[in-house]
Amino acid sequence: MSENNIQSTLHEDRQFPPSPAFLKTASLSADKLADLYAAAEKDNIGFWANQARSEIDWQTPFTQTLDDSNAPFYRWFPDGKLNVSYNCLDRQLEKHADKTAIIFEGDAGDVAHITYRELHSRVCAFANALTAQGIAQGDRVIIYMPMIAEAVVAMQACARIGAIHSVVFGGFSASSLKDRIEDTRAKMVITADGGHRGGRVVELKATTDSALESGCKSIESVIVFKRTGHNISMQAGRDIWWQDAVEGQSHVCEPVWVDATHPLFLLYTSGSTGKPKGIQHSSGGYLLNAITTMRWVFDIQDTDVFWCTADVGWITGHSYVAYGPLATGATIVIFEGVPTYPDAGRFWEMCERHSVTIFYTAPTAIRALIKQGDDFPNKHDLSKLRLLGTVGEPINPEAWIWYHKVIGGERCPIVDTWWQTETGAHMIAPVPGATTTKPGSCTRALPGIDAAIVNQEGEEITTANEGGYLVIRQPWPSMLQTVWGDDQRYQDSYWPYFDGKYYLAGDSARRDEDGFFWIMGRIDDVLNVSGHRLGTMEIESALVANPLVAEAAIVGKPHDIKGESVFAYVVLKGERPTGGIDDELTQTLRAWVGEQIGAIAKPDEIRYADNLPKTRSGKIMRRLLRTIAKGEEITSDTSTLENESILPQLQGRT
Ligand code: WTA
Repeated sequence: MSENNIQSTLHEDRQFPPSPAFLKTASLSADKLADLYAAAEKDNIGFWANQARSEIDWQTPFTQTLDDSNAPFYRWFPDGKLNVSYNCLDRQLEKHADKTAIIFEGDAGDVAHITYRELHSRVCAFANALTAQGIAQGDRVIIYMPMIAEAVVAMQACARIGAIHSVVFGGFSASSLKDRIEDTRAKMVITADGGHRGGRVVELKATTDSALESGCKSIESVIVFKRTGHNISMQAGRDIWWQDAVEGQSHVCEPVWVDATHPLFLLYTSGSTGKPKGIQHSSGGYLLNAITTMRWVFDIQDTDVFWCTADVGWITGHSYVAYGPLATGATIVIFEGVPTYPDAGRFWEMCERHSVTIFYTAPTAIRALIKQGDDFPNKHDLSKLRLLGTVGEPINPEAWIWYHKVIGGERCPIVDTWWQTETGAHMIAPVPGATTTKPGSCTRALPGIDAAIVNQEGEEITTANEGGYLVIRQPWPSMLQTVWGDDQRYQDSYWPYFDGKYYLAGDSARRDEDGFFWIMGRIDDVLNVSGHRLGTMEIESALVANPLVAEAAIVGKPHDIKGESVFAYVVLKGERPTGGIDDELTQTLRAWVGEQIGAIAKPDEIRYADNLPKTRSGKIMRRLLRTIAKGEEITSDTSTLENESILPQLQGRT
């Protein structure tokens, strides 16, 4: 662990109690919330058992709530059986069959409304198609789709038959896709010919083909949804159109009842070392917290139109697009495109046209839209909005205030939700009808979640505003189960200290005088670029895999819109370009990283040097590199540096 970013410089005193407008309809008052906290405090396990009984329809009720005999491999509701898709769809049919489940809007503005009855029927037919293709319980299925309703249909269909899905974000490269296929040993890829984003076609099938060309022996079939209609190649015997696969399939499909601990999905995320980790989530525990947070944090009600802008390739698109909202019978918006196409008013225009009441997005999107000016939101009637949310990175108070005033009309509470791929659902977040918010703080841990800040010895830090490691001290239902195929890595990454008793989140944080949490940043070598996690090691190994590159170091550089940008220092095998920069080479290496990982990982800047700054023991001096990337004066001691003459090269001066 490093102490580097455990110093806080942010001071923010503004406070925002729930608005009277919001309180009129809020379902969770301060009193009711206090009851939840009290119940959880008295008996944490009993509290979750009660929640699980009232929120989930069990086929076989559980008799044991938590099996902690093999910690940290906790097993929630181990003898209960359920089906997640049943809980999301079938149980809505009685009262909500004709309610809109999904409002889909394509990049070009094409709109479709899908009712719960229709969604249920499509999921059943597709689940039958999967079975017909030989997919059975426990098989892994990769989903590499545009952000269209069928992505959710595919996820729900897997859940229905107990297949384990792993969604790969459509922006990832063939090589990233291949790594995930090989790590999961998936039998099938579900993809589309392509998707539309900002008026352009995203090649999904072609990328899938190149991933499969180079290995991926486990793949038996590829289902291709026809979205764009552009020319792609189909391999006979392996590839089948979605539209053909569902042809003639029954619209009835009995759900496969699985153990609560049966994996619902794997989702890869970056860690500080090695390849991305396949975070494994359960069925029962995961679903429970996806539901409880929909109620507590989003105050979801029957009349809401809920729009979470995240792609299903990220955890946010799992918990708050594909599962949580459907399990609570909500109407959701799914949008294929980007916020700036055809212009920067797209989000606000859509909020107006679809009467969105709850809007949840990332600070990076908010910051990008602030730059486009207030005219875009001001042109639209945003009066239906009643609640706003953010996720993925700390929101700077000025962006928070803009969101509050210009989008929320000073009437909508903002829920700043702290959580992770690993936690499955919100952990620290306001309850909008009860919590007084402060711009930039994710406020308090939710009922039943035991979050704390500790020092290196694992002792709780009680001094206000002193930074430390954010930990969770008791297991919670939607916690990750393990790292797919690598129990040791699960233990080493998340339970390395404090006798393996506390879950180590990997973030530093502080608590203020009121006990509110303020997230300060990562404590490991993970960057947060536009709300997406990128491991520095991952990008470094991608660069080093290029034949021109001998060595590389990646650091984050603060960025107005993205939060952080990727900054690379590269040592070439051949001559260093004079002047420290070579545009053509830089473009080549950026494109290379794009191919190896995906466009989000491309370095914004690359500096070339004869060497990297290392201590005498051979450790790369990352803190120094961060200072240089920011263009700041070097104040730290560089005498331990092996080769001081490279400093001007790193600074881009020679
Ligand atoms: C960061 C996204 C500050 C944090 C759901 C965490 C946040 C990482 C917030 C997880 C927030 C997420 N305030 N920081 N509200 N939400 N983070 O796995 O560093 O993509 O560890 O999950 O994002 O990113 P992940």
